[in-house]
Amino acid sequence: MDNTPSRDAIHRAVSQYIADAAQDNTFIPGQTPIPPSGKVVGEPEIQAMIDASLDAWLTTGRFNAEFEARLTAFLGVERSITVNSGSSANLVAVSSLFSPQLGKNALRPGDEVITVAAGFPTTVNPVIQNGGCPVFIDISRDTYNIDASQLNAALSPKTRAVVLAHTLGNPFDLAAVTRFCAEHNLWLIEDCCDALGARYTLPEEEAGWRATLPENGGDTLWRRADPAEHSGKVGSFGHLGTLSFYPAHHITMGEGGAVFSSNPQLMRIAESIRDWGRDCWCPPGKDNTCGKRFCWKLGDLPEGYDHKYVYSNLGYNLKITDMQAACALAQMDRLPGFIEARQRNFAYLSERLAPLEEFLIMPCATPCSQPSWFGFPLTLKKDTGTHRLDLLRYLEQYHIGTRLLFAGNLTRQPYFATRHFRVAGALSNTDTAAESAFWVGVWPGLSEAHLDYVADRIGEFFGVGF
Ligand SMILES: Cc1ncc(COP(=O)(O)O)c(C=O)c1O
Repeated sequence: MDNTPSRDAIHRAVSQYIADAAQDNTFIPGQTPIPPSGKVVGEPEIQAMIDASLDAWLTTGRFNAEFEARLTAFLGVERSITVNSGSSANLVAVSSLFSPQLGKNALRPGDEVITVAAGFPTTVNPVIQNGGCPVFIDISRDTYNIDASQLNAALSPKTRAVVLAHTLGNPFDLAAVTRFCAEHNLWLIEDCCDALGARYTLPEEEAGWRATLPENGGDTLWRRADPAEHSGKVGSFGHLGTLSFYPAHHITMGEGGAVFSSNPQLMRIAESIRDWGRDCWCPPGKDNTCGKRFCWKLGDLPEGYDHKYVYSNLGYNLKITDMQAACALAQMDRLPGFIEARQRNFAYLSERLAPLEEFLIMPCATPCSQPSWFGFPLTLKKDTGTHRLDLLRYLEQYHIGTRLLFAGNLTRQPYFATRHFRVAGALSNTDTAAESAFWVGVWPGLSEAHLDYVADRIGEFFGVGF
Protein backbone atom coordinates (compact mmCIF):
# COMPACT_ATOMS: atom_id res chain seq x y z
CA MET A 1 0.00 0.00 0.00
CA ASP A 2 1.29 3.44 -0.92
CA ASN A 3 1.44 5.60 2.19
CA THR A 4 2.67 8.69 0.35
CA PRO A 5 0.31 11.51 1.26
CA SER A 6 -1.34 13.20 -1.71
CA ARG A 7 -0.76 16.87 -2.39
CA ASP A 8 -4.31 17.52 -1.26
CA ALA A 9 -3.65 15.85 2.08
CA ILE A 10 -0.49 17.92 2.53
CA HIS A 11 -2.38 21.12 1.71
CA ARG A 12 -5.12 20.18 4.18
CA ALA A 13 -2.55 19.55 6.90
CA VAL A 14 -0.87 22.90 6.15
CA SER A 15 -4.25 24.61 6.27
CA GLN A 16 -4.87 23.10 9.70
CA TYR A 17 -1.41 24.17 10.88
CA ILE A 18 -2.07 27.75 9.73
CA ALA A 19 -5.43 27.83 11.52
CA ASP A 20 -3.85 26.45 14.72
CA ALA A 21 -0.94 28.88 14.58
CA ALA A 22 -3.14 31.95 13.94
CA GLN A 23 -2.38 34.78 16.32
CA ASP A 24 -4.62 37.38 17.87
CA ASN A 25 -3.90 40.58 15.96
CA THR A 26 -5.92 42.91 18.17
CA PHE A 27 -4.22 46.28 18.27
CA ILE A 28 -3.20 47.29 21.79
CA PRO A 29 -2.27 50.99 21.79
CA GLY A 30 1.20 51.58 23.15
CA GLN A 31 2.04 47.88 23.10
CA THR A 32 1.51 46.63 19.58
CA PRO A 33 4.36 47.76 17.34
CA ILE A 34 3.41 49.87 14.30
CA PRO A 35 6.18 49.21 11.80
CA PRO A 36 6.61 51.60 8.87
CA SER A 37 6.38 48.73 6.40
CA GLY A 38 5.60 45.05 6.39
CA LYS A 39 4.29 42.09 4.50
CA VAL A 40 0.78 40.70 4.38
CA VAL A 41 1.13 36.99 3.63
CA GLY A 42 -1.05 34.10 4.69
CA GLU A 43 -2.42 30.78 3.60
CA PRO A 44 -2.42 31.41 -0.18
CA GLU A 45 1.29 32.28 -0.17
CA ILE A 46 2.25 29.41 2.14
CA GLN A 47 0.24 26.88 0.13
CA ALA A 48 1.77 28.12 -3.12
CA MET A 49 5.28 27.83 -1.67
CA ILE A 50 4.48 24.28 -0.47
CA ASP A 51 3.30 23.44 -3.98
CA ALA A 52 6.52 24.76 -5.48
CA SER A 53 8.58 22.87 -2.89
CA LEU A 54 6.77 19.63 -3.69
CA ASP A 55 7.63 20.18 -7.36
CA ALA A 56 11.28 20.26 -6.20
CA TRP A 57 12.09 22.09 -9.43
CA LEU A 58 13.92 24.69 -7.31
CA THR A 59 15.12 27.13 -9.99
CA THR A 60 12.71 29.26 -12.05
CA GLY A 61 9.95 27.05 -13.41
CA ARG A 62 6.17 27.02 -13.86
CA PHE A 63 5.42 29.43 -11.03
CA ASN A 64 7.94 31.92 -12.33
CA ALA A 65 6.51 31.72 -15.85
CA GLU A 66 3.01 32.38 -14.53
CA PHE A 67 4.14 35.17 -12.24
CA GLU A 68 6.04 36.95 -15.01
CA ALA A 69 2.98 36.72 -17.27
CA ARG A 70 0.66 38.10 -14.57
CA LEU A 71 3.06 40.91 -13.70
CA THR A 72 3.56 41.83 -17.36
CA ALA A 73 -0.20 42.06 -17.91
CA PHE A 74 -0.62 44.14 -14.75
CA LEU A 75 2.08 46.58 -15.78
CA GLY A 76 0.77 46.90 -19.35
CA VAL A 77 4.16 46.19 -20.93
CA GLU A 78 5.47 43.53 -23.30
CA ARG A 79 7.73 41.62 -20.96
CA SER A 80 9.04 41.34 -17.44
CA ILE A 81 11.71 39.09 -15.95
CA THR A 82 12.30 38.29 -12.31
CA VAL A 83 15.61 38.91 -10.55
CA ASN A 84 16.70 38.30 -6.97
CA SER A 85 16.28 41.87 -5.65
CA GLY A 86 15.34 45.42 -6.57
CA SER A 87 19.03 46.27 -6.43
CA SER A 88 19.74 43.48 -8.93
CA ALA A 89 16.91 44.83 -11.09
CA ASN A 90 18.62 48.23 -11.20
CA LEU A 91 21.99 46.58 -11.86
CA VAL A 92 20.51 44.65 -14.78
CA ALA A 93 18.62 47.67 -16.17
CA VAL A 94 21.57 50.08 -16.02
CA SER A 95 24.07 47.46 -17.23
CA SER A 96 21.75 46.80 -20.20
CA LEU A 97 22.29 50.39 -21.36
CA PHE A 98 26.06 49.74 -21.30
CA SER A 99 25.72 46.54 -23.37
CA PRO A 100 27.84 46.48 -26.54
CA GLN A 101 24.79 44.90 -28.18
CA LEU A 102 23.31 48.41 -28.34
CA GLY A 103 26.10 49.43 -30.71
CA LYS A 104 26.63 53.18 -31.01
CA ASN A 105 23.70 53.84 -28.65
CA ALA A 106 25.34 52.02 -25.75
CA LEU A 107 26.49 54.06 -22.77
CA ARG A 108 30.25 54.13 -22.21
CA PRO A 109 32.41 54.76 -19.15
CA GLY A 110 32.55 58.48 -18.47
CA ASP A 111 29.02 59.14 -19.78
CA GLU A 112 26.81 61.18 -17.48
CA VAL A 113 23.52 60.01 -16.00
CA ILE A 114 21.17 62.54 -14.40
CA THR A 115 19.58 61.45 -11.13
CA VAL A 116 18.81 62.64 -7.59
CA ALA A 117 20.80 62.26 -4.39
CA ALA A 118 17.71 61.94 -2.16
CA GLY A 119 16.99 58.26 -2.53
CA PHE A 120 18.09 54.69 -2.25
CA PRO A 121 21.77 53.98 -3.03
CA THR A 122 21.17 51.07 -5.37
CA THR A 123 19.26 53.26 -7.82
CA VAL A 124 22.54 55.05 -8.50
CA ASN A 125 25.24 52.47 -7.65
CA PRO A 126 24.96 50.54 -10.94
CA VAL A 127 25.78 53.75 -12.82
CA ILE A 128 29.02 54.05 -10.86
CA GLN A 129 29.73 50.33 -11.15
CA ASN A 130 29.49 50.59 -14.94
CA GLY A 131 31.89 53.53 -15.02
CA GLY A 132 29.22 56.19 -15.57
CA CYS A 133 29.14 59.51 -13.78
CA PRO A 134 26.00 60.34 -11.76
CA VAL A 135 24.93 63.98 -11.97
CA PHE A 136 22.75 65.00 -9.05
CA ILE A 137 20.02 67.61 -9.08
CA ASP A 138 17.67 68.73 -6.37
CA ILE A 139 14.23 67.44 -5.42
CA SER A 140 10.95 69.28 -4.80
CA ARG A 141 10.31 69.61 -1.12
CA ASP A 142 6.77 68.19 -0.98
CA THR A 143 6.83 65.49 -3.68
CA TYR A 144 10.35 64.29 -2.73
CA ASN A 145 10.92 63.75 -6.46
CA ILE A 146 13.25 65.37 -8.95
CA ASP A 147 12.76 69.11 -9.43
CA ALA A 148 12.35 68.88 -13.20
CA SER A 149 12.97 72.61 -13.67
CA GLN A 150 16.66 71.85 -12.90
CA LEU A 151 17.10 69.30 -15.69
CA ASN A 152 18.44 71.70 -18.32
CA ALA A 153 21.07 73.03 -15.95
CA ALA A 154 22.38 69.48 -15.47
CA LEU A 155 22.79 68.78 -19.18
CA SER A 156 26.28 68.47 -20.67
CA PRO A 157 27.65 67.03 -23.93
CA LYS A 158 28.30 63.82 -21.94
CA THR A 159 24.69 63.37 -20.74
CA ARG A 160 23.28 60.07 -22.05
CA ALA A 161 20.61 58.91 -19.60
CA VAL A 162 18.25 59.74 -16.74
CA VAL A 163 17.76 57.19 -13.94
CA LEU A 164 15.18 58.05 -11.30
CA ALA A 165 13.00 56.39 -8.68
CA HIS A 166 9.33 57.24 -8.16
CA THR A 167 9.93 58.28 -4.56
CA LEU A 168 7.85 56.45 -1.95
CA GLY A 169 5.28 55.52 -4.58
CA ASN A 170 4.73 59.08 -5.76
CA PRO A 171 5.44 59.29 -9.52
CA PHE A 172 8.01 61.86 -10.63
CA ASP A 173 6.96 64.44 -13.22
CA LEU A 174 6.88 62.05 -16.16
CA ALA A 175 5.63 64.71 -18.59
CA ALA A 176 8.67 66.92 -17.97
CA VAL A 177 11.20 64.11 -17.69
CA THR A 178 10.08 62.24 -20.84
CA ARG A 179 9.95 65.56 -22.76
CA PHE A 180 13.50 66.37 -21.65
CA CYS A 181 14.73 62.88 -22.53
CA ALA A 182 13.05 63.02 -25.95
CA GLU A 183 14.47 66.50 -26.69
CA HIS A 184 18.00 65.36 -25.88
CA ASN A 185 17.66 61.73 -26.99
CA LEU A 186 18.45 60.26 -23.58
CA TRP A 187 17.75 56.83 -22.14
CA LEU A 188 15.30 56.72 -19.22
CA ILE A 189 15.16 54.07 -16.47
CA GLU A 190 12.26 54.25 -14.00
CA ASP A 191 13.03 52.67 -10.63
CA CYS A 192 9.54 51.60 -9.51
CA CYS A 193 10.76 49.58 -6.53
CA ASP A 194 8.55 51.62 -4.20
CA ALA A 195 5.77 52.38 -6.67
CA LEU A 196 4.18 49.21 -8.03
CA GLY A 197 0.76 50.15 -9.43
CA ALA A 198 1.24 53.93 -9.40
CA ARG A 199 -0.20 55.61 -12.49
CA TYR A 200 0.56 58.73 -14.48
CA THR A 201 -1.52 60.54 -17.10
CA LEU A 202 0.21 63.02 -19.37
CA PRO A 203 -1.54 66.41 -19.34
CA GLU A 204 -3.80 67.00 -22.35
CA GLU A 205 -1.65 69.77 -23.79
CA GLU A 206 1.37 67.46 -23.77
CA ALA A 207 2.21 65.87 -27.14
CA GLY A 208 3.49 62.87 -25.22
CA TRP A 209 6.51 60.66 -25.69
CA ARG A 210 7.19 56.98 -25.23
CA ALA A 211 10.57 55.32 -25.11
CA THR A 212 11.57 53.30 -28.14
CA LEU A 213 14.68 51.69 -29.54
CA PRO A 214 16.25 52.75 -32.83
CA GLU A 215 15.67 50.54 -35.82
CA ASN A 216 17.90 50.02 -38.85
CA GLY A 217 20.99 51.57 -37.35
CA GLY A 218 19.24 54.80 -36.28
CA ASP A 219 19.67 56.48 -32.93
CA THR A 220 16.24 57.88 -32.00
CA LEU A 221 15.32 56.75 -28.51
CA TRP A 222 11.81 58.33 -28.35
CA ARG A 223 8.62 58.30 -30.40
CA ARG A 224 5.39 60.24 -30.14
CA ALA A 225 2.87 58.55 -27.83
CA ASP A 226 -0.49 57.44 -29.21
CA PRO A 227 -3.42 59.05 -27.37
CA ALA A 228 -4.11 55.66 -25.72
CA GLU A 229 -0.58 55.71 -24.32
CA HIS A 230 -0.96 59.01 -22.45
CA SER A 231 -1.94 57.16 -19.33
CA GLY A 232 -0.19 54.17 -17.85
CA LYS A 233 1.51 52.52 -14.95
CA VAL A 234 4.84 53.96 -13.92
CA GLY A 235 7.72 52.12 -15.50
CA SER A 236 5.96 51.86 -18.85
CA PHE A 237 7.00 55.34 -20.03
CA GLY A 238 10.79 54.97 -20.03
CA HIS A 239 13.03 52.34 -21.60
CA LEU A 240 13.19 50.00 -18.60
CA GLY A 241 11.37 49.76 -15.27
CA THR A 242 12.47 47.98 -12.11
CA LEU A 243 10.69 46.53 -9.06
CA SER A 244 11.59 45.17 -5.63
CA PHE A 245 9.73 42.36 -3.88
CA TYR A 246 11.50 42.66 -0.54
CA PRO A 247 8.92 42.24 2.28
CA ALA A 248 8.58 45.99 2.79
CA HIS A 249 7.34 46.46 -0.76
CA HIS A 250 3.90 46.34 -2.38
CA ILE A 251 4.12 42.60 -2.98
CA THR A 252 6.79 40.25 -1.75
CA MET A 253 8.60 37.03 -2.51
CA GLY A 254 11.05 37.43 0.37
CA GLU A 255 13.97 38.66 -1.68
CA GLY A 256 13.25 39.52 -5.29
CA GLY A 257 12.67 42.03 -8.01
CA ALA A 258 11.85 42.42 -11.67
CA VAL A 259 12.95 44.28 -14.79
CA PHE A 260 10.34 45.18 -17.39
CA SER A 261 9.99 46.93 -20.72
CA SER A 262 8.05 46.91 -23.95
CA ASN A 263 11.22 46.66 -25.94
CA PRO A 264 12.17 43.09 -26.92
CA GLN A 265 15.81 43.92 -27.71
CA LEU A 266 16.37 45.56 -24.32
CA MET A 267 14.68 42.65 -22.56
CA ARG A 268 16.90 40.14 -24.38
CA ILE A 269 19.93 42.07 -23.16
CA ALA A 270 18.50 42.29 -19.63
CA GLU A 271 17.82 38.55 -19.61
CA SER A 272 21.32 37.82 -20.83
CA ILE A 273 22.86 39.99 -18.08
CA ARG A 274 20.67 38.26 -15.47
CA ASP A 275 21.66 34.81 -16.84
CA TRP A 276 25.47 34.95 -16.67
CA GLY A 277 25.70 37.22 -19.75
CA ARG A 278 25.02 34.33 -22.10
CA ASP A 279 23.77 34.69 -25.65
CA CYS A 280 21.46 31.66 -25.29
CA TRP A 281 17.94 32.31 -24.00
CA CYS A 282 16.83 28.78 -23.07
CA PRO A 283 14.89 28.66 -19.78
CA PRO A 284 16.26 26.34 -17.07
CA GLY A 285 15.88 22.70 -18.10
CA LYS A 286 15.54 23.44 -21.84
CA ASP A 287 18.05 23.10 -24.66
CA ASN A 288 18.17 24.38 -28.21
CA THR A 289 15.30 26.92 -27.99
CA CYS A 290 16.93 28.80 -30.86
CA GLY A 291 16.99 25.64 -33.02
CA LYS A 292 20.66 26.13 -33.93
CA ARG A 293 22.51 25.43 -30.71
CA PHE A 294 25.60 24.09 -32.51
CA CYS A 295 25.38 26.32 -35.60
CA TRP A 296 26.37 29.77 -34.31
CA LYS A 297 29.62 31.54 -35.11
CA LEU A 298 29.99 34.29 -32.53
CA GLY A 299 32.99 36.33 -31.34
CA ASP A 300 36.28 34.63 -32.09
CA LEU A 301 34.95 31.25 -30.93
CA PRO A 302 35.17 28.11 -33.06
CA GLU A 303 32.33 27.51 -35.52
CA GLY A 304 29.36 25.78 -33.82
CA TYR A 305 30.55 26.53 -30.27
CA ASP A 306 27.69 25.46 -27.93
CA HIS A 307 25.35 28.46 -27.74
CA LYS A 308 24.78 27.72 -24.04
CA TYR A 309 28.36 28.81 -23.37
CA VAL A 310 28.57 31.89 -25.56
CA TYR A 311 28.61 35.16 -23.58
CA SER A 312 27.62 38.41 -25.28
CA ASN A 313 27.37 40.51 -22.13
CA LEU A 314 29.20 40.98 -18.88
CA GLY A 315 26.66 39.16 -16.76
CA TYR A 316 25.81 37.64 -13.40
CA ASN A 317 23.41 35.02 -12.10
CA LEU A 318 20.55 36.97 -10.55
CA LYS A 319 17.71 34.47 -10.95
CA ILE A 320 15.19 33.50 -8.26
CA THR A 321 13.82 30.15 -7.14
CA ASP A 322 10.35 28.89 -8.05
CA MET A 323 9.34 28.96 -4.35
CA GLN A 324 9.87 32.73 -4.38
CA ALA A 325 7.87 33.04 -7.61
CA ALA A 326 5.03 30.98 -6.08
CA CYS A 327 4.79 33.38 -3.14
CA ALA A 328 4.67 36.42 -5.43
CA LEU A 329 2.13 34.74 -7.70
CA ALA A 330 -0.25 34.37 -4.76
CA GLN A 331 0.41 38.00 -3.87
CA MET A 332 -0.76 39.11 -7.34
CA ASP A 333 -4.35 38.25 -6.38
CA ARG A 334 -4.08 40.67 -3.48
CA LEU A 335 -2.24 43.47 -5.31
CA PRO A 336 -5.23 45.65 -6.29
CA GLY A 337 -6.49 45.48 -2.69
CA PHE A 338 -3.01 46.30 -1.37
CA ILE A 339 -2.76 49.40 -3.57
CA GLU A 340 -6.23 50.57 -2.53
CA ALA A 341 -5.37 50.06 1.15
CA ARG A 342 -2.17 52.09 0.76
CA GLN A 343 -4.09 54.90 -0.94
CA ARG A 344 -6.83 54.78 1.67
CA ASN A 345 -4.36 54.83 4.56
CA PHE A 346 -2.49 57.72 2.98
CA ALA A 347 -5.70 59.73 2.57
CA TYR A 348 -6.72 58.99 6.15
CA LEU A 349 -3.38 60.04 7.58
CA SER A 350 -3.41 63.22 5.42
CA GLU A 351 -6.72 64.16 6.97
CA ARG A 352 -5.61 63.34 10.50
CA LEU A 353 -2.29 65.20 10.23
CA ALA A 354 -3.63 68.27 8.41
CA PRO A 355 -3.89 70.32 11.66
CA LEU A 356 -0.11 69.93 12.05
CA GLU A 357 0.79 71.91 8.93
CA GLU A 358 2.29 74.59 11.12
CA PHE A 359 5.01 72.10 12.14
CA LEU A 360 5.30 69.65 9.28
CA ILE A 361 5.51 69.85 5.48
CA MET A 362 2.73 67.59 4.22
CA PRO A 363 3.42 65.37 1.19
CA CYS A 364 1.84 66.17 -2.19
CA ALA A 365 0.97 63.78 -4.98
CA THR A 366 2.68 64.84 -8.22
CA PRO A 367 0.15 66.55 -10.51
CA CYS A 368 -1.43 64.15 -13.05
CA SER A 369 -0.41 61.14 -10.97
CA GLN A 370 -2.16 58.47 -8.96
CA PRO A 371 0.47 57.38 -6.44
CA SER A 372 0.70 53.90 -4.98
CA TRP A 373 2.10 55.13 -1.70
CA PHE A 374 4.97 53.28 -0.04
CA GLY A 375 5.04 55.54 3.01
CA PHE A 376 3.83 58.86 4.35
CA PRO A 377 6.72 61.36 4.19
CA LEU A 378 6.86 64.38 6.49
CA THR A 379 9.47 67.11 6.94
CA LEU A 380 9.89 69.01 10.14
CA LYS A 381 9.63 72.74 9.42
CA LYS A 382 12.64 74.87 10.33
CA ASP A 383 11.15 77.18 12.93
CA THR A 384 9.41 74.62 15.16
CA GLY A 385 12.14 74.66 17.80
CA THR A 386 12.26 70.85 17.74
CA HIS A 387 14.57 68.27 16.22
CA ARG A 388 13.76 65.28 14.07
CA LEU A 389 15.70 62.98 16.35
CA ASP A 390 13.57 64.02 19.33
CA LEU A 391 10.39 63.34 17.40
CA LEU A 392 11.59 59.94 16.14
CA ARG A 393 12.69 58.92 19.64
CA TYR A 394 9.37 60.11 21.01
CA LEU A 395 7.51 57.91 18.54
CA GLU A 396 9.84 55.00 19.13
CA GLN A 397 8.92 54.83 22.82
CA TYR A 398 5.34 54.16 21.66
CA HIS A 399 6.60 51.46 19.25
CA ILE A 400 5.80 53.61 16.22
CA GLY A 401 8.39 52.81 13.56
CA THR A 402 9.80 55.49 11.30
CA ARG A 403 12.22 55.56 8.39
CA LEU A 404 14.32 58.31 6.84
CA LEU A 405 14.24 59.16 3.16
CA PHE A 406 16.73 56.35 2.58
CA ALA A 407 20.24 57.76 2.04
CA GLY A 408 19.05 61.37 2.49
CA ASN A 409 21.75 63.01 0.40
CA LEU A 410 23.85 60.30 -1.25
CA THR A 411 26.77 62.67 -1.81
CA ARG A 412 27.15 62.97 1.97
CA GLN A 413 27.33 59.21 2.53
CA PRO A 414 30.72 57.77 3.59
CA TYR A 415 31.11 55.65 0.48
CA PHE A 416 30.72 58.67 -1.76
CA ALA A 417 33.89 60.33 -0.49
CA THR A 418 35.98 58.59 -3.14
CA ARG A 419 33.42 58.52 -5.97
CA HIS A 420 33.38 60.46 -9.20
CA PHE A 421 30.16 62.46 -9.56
CA ARG A 422 28.87 65.92 -10.42
CA VAL A 423 26.31 68.12 -8.70
CA ALA A 424 24.26 70.55 -10.80
CA GLY A 425 22.89 73.47 -8.77
CA ALA A 426 22.31 73.51 -5.03
CA LEU A 427 20.90 70.41 -3.34
CA SER A 428 18.98 72.54 -0.82
CA ASN A 429 15.77 70.52 -0.63
CA THR A 430 17.80 67.32 -0.67
CA ASP A 431 19.71 68.56 2.37
CA THR A 432 16.49 69.58 4.08
CA ALA A 433 15.15 66.08 3.49
CA ALA A 434 18.41 64.56 4.78
CA GLU A 435 18.19 66.67 7.91
CA SER A 436 14.47 66.88 8.66
CA ALA A 437 12.39 64.33 6.69
CA PHE A 438 11.10 60.94 7.79
CA TRP A 439 8.21 58.69 6.93
CA VAL A 440 5.65 56.55 8.69
CA GLY A 441 3.79 53.54 7.37
CA VAL A 442 0.67 53.21 5.23
CA TRP A 443 1.09 49.52 4.35
CA PRO A 444 -2.00 47.29 4.14
CA GLY A 445 -1.38 45.71 7.55
CA LEU A 446 -2.29 49.02 9.21
CA SER A 447 -5.85 49.93 10.13
CA GLU A 448 -7.43 53.25 11.09
CA ALA A 449 -6.80 52.37 14.74
CA HIS A 450 -3.04 52.19 14.06
CA LEU A 451 -3.10 55.40 12.05
CA ASP A 452 -5.13 57.24 14.71
CA TYR A 453 -2.55 56.23 17.26
CA VAL A 454 0.30 57.47 15.04
CA ALA A 455 -1.45 60.80 14.37
CA ASP A 456 -2.31 61.30 18.05
CA ARG A 457 1.26 60.69 19.20
CA ILE A 458 2.70 63.05 16.56
CA GLY A 459 0.14 65.70 17.58
CA GLU A 460 0.99 65.14 21.21
CA PHE A 461 4.69 65.74 20.47
CA PHE A 462 3.80 69.20 19.14
CA GLY A 463 1.34 69.81 21.98
CA VAL A 464 -1.66 69.61 19.67
CA GLY A 465 -4.66 67.52 20.68
CA PHE A 466 -7.11 66.60 17.94
C1 LIG B 1 13.81 53.10 -4.70
C2 LIG B 1 14.48 51.81 -4.37
N1 LIG B 1 15.23 51.21 -5.30
C3 LIG B 1 15.83 50.03 -5.07
C4 LIG B 1 15.69 49.39 -3.86
C5 LIG B 1 16.39 48.07 -3.63
O1 LIG B 1 15.52 47.01 -3.52
P1 LIG B 1 16.01 45.64 -2.79
O2 LIG B 1 16.01 45.89 -1.34
O3 LIG B 1 15.02 44.62 -3.21
O4 LIG B 1 17.37 45.36 -3.30
C6 LIG B 1 14.93 49.97 -2.86
C7 LIG B 1 14.77 49.27 -1.56
O5 LIG B 1 13.92 49.53 -0.76
C8 LIG B 1 14.30 51.21 -3.11
O6 LIG B 1 13.57 51.82 -2.18
